[in-house]
Amino acid sequence: MVSVVVSNASINIVPLPSSVKETNGTYQLRDGATVVYNNKLLKPAAGYLVEKLAPATGYSFEVRKGVRGDICLVLADNKNPEDESYTLSVSANGIVIASASYKGIIHGISSLRQLLPHEIESPSKVAGKVWTVPTVEISDKPAYEWRGMMLDPVRHFYSMEETKRFLDHMALYKFSKFHWHLIDSQAWRIEIKKYPLLTDKGAWRDPAKENIDVACEKMAKEGNDPAMKLPRAYFKTKDGKEVYGGYYSQKEIKEIVAYAAVRGIDVVPELDMPGHNHMATRCYPWLGCAHDGTDPLCVGSDATLKFCKNVYKEVFRLFPFGYAEIGGDEVQRKKWENCPLCQERVRKEGLKDMAELQSWFTREMEKFFNKHGRRLIGWDEILEGGVSPTATVNWWQGYHTDVVQKSTSGGNEVICCPTTFCYFDYGQDSTTIKKLYTSDIVPADLTPQQKRLVKGIQANIWGEYIPTEARMQYMVFPRILALAEKAWTADGSQNWDDFVYRLVGQTMRLDALKINYRPLEAAATPGFLDIYRRLKAEQK
Ligand code: ACM
Ligand code: ZN
Repeated sequence: MVSVVVSNASINIVPLPSSVKETNGTYQLRDGATVVYNNKLLKPAAGYLVEKLAPATGYSFEVRKGVRGDICLVLADNKNPEDESYTLSVSANGIVIASASYKGIIHGISSLRQLLPHEIESPSKVAGKVWTVPTVEISDKPAYEWRGMMLDPVRHFYSMEETKRFLDHMALYKFSKFHWHLIDSQAWRIEIKKYPLLTDKGAWRDPAKENIDVACEKMAKEGNDPAMKLPRAYFKTKDGKEVYGGYYSQKEIKEIVAYAAVRGIDVVPELDMPGHNHMATRCYPWLGCAHDGTDPLCVGSDATLKFCKNVYKEVFRLFPFGYAEIGGDEVQRKKWENCPLCQERVRKEGLKDMAELQSWFTREMEKFFNKHGRRLIGWDEILEGGVSPTATVNWWQGYHTDVVQKSTSGGNEVICCPTTFCYFDYGQDSTTIKKLYTSDIVPADLTPQQKRLVKGIQANIWGEYIPTEARMQYMVFPRILALAEKAWTADGSQNWDDFVYRLVGQTMRLDALKINYRPLEAAATPGFLDIYRRLKAEQK
């Protein structure tokens, strides 16, 4: 029998806030309510709040700068835009969300949404509903600044609308970083003006010749599952042939970055180098060692190095965030052993082996990143030939359990996304959510000094077998809620039984948002299932 710890049934917020005090009353939202903000920096936040409240209520809101209103957004001083703590105060007379940062205000809005009936997430008017909020004093702050989700629109493409919806869902659960994996061997998805072939040619492919496309179509057919079928919207005719794909123009990239910023989310671009670059070398064969259109990039070639820097120069103009991701994973370094230019680089730089050659490349790129005011992140292979202490490491190889120890003892910051828990493209069974929630994603054996170097946690959603938004949502939800709480709520306040209770309540919110989540029954252990059935019946 599973015991359930529930302080009050009317409050159900994920991730769990640091402090919630109920004051036994209600506030009722009404048509014509005023939403005011004390600082013009909050104007987009006010617009975002109204965008979330208007469709379901059907109300109109008066939005203006001011300090007195029904819902007040208050930017305290904005001295530290990264201080994400906030307070949310609901009394019978009104609502005040206050923070020292824009991001904190957005988190307060997410909590407010979750205090309202779940129908508030409905995209169309819900008739006959009284929109009440329990009176409450919330004071809240995140455990980790880096609460990330990585999306891979390369293996399978996701449209602007789908990407925006994903950002919306991230914001509801207080995620802070959108890691966007924009290029790989199967496609190039970001317009680079200096190298137009990358998207003219590299954004499109013959799906009959791509293993992952063939596999998805087969699964769609055999399983009679439309969510596994490549969407027709991403097909076009090119040179008389039907091809699949798409890319984001620079204008669209800016639109996504701005959309994310309104929601308090920083966008981290990843243009993986020097491996995972089969498509780039197909478009420009001189980028590779043998000029034969195969991976990886030739790091002995000055022309290739110039290409890498030119690409990132354009990238930095589009993504203002202070970190960018070089990738660096799974490089087929053996190819470099037979390349005269790579061998010349090894001799000239006094390098010991091919891992050091990759390391040389990463350091070169890091200097370039730094010159442009960016810090470099790389997958944990960047440690292998030695890494500069200023690079940030994305720990992904869960079976290399010493990565966090190694990174942090060398002074490197680290983001934890080990395969063990954080690969949301991996299959799910009845134990997945509980394992994710109750395990240490950040290793427990770190000194306080090492712990300070852990920037946070993220999940990766690789797209090989995720050809549609519906499939993506099925893989991501509801386990993303467990991850949100691991990243936001202090370790000592995480409680599985309490979380289960809230998770069940949240599924009704996911229903209202029309998210194709994996049903909890399918994820349930027997105890979990009992709670689920009982609460579902109670909350109907
Ligand atoms: C990775 O999964 N190759 C980072
Ligand atoms: Zn080479």
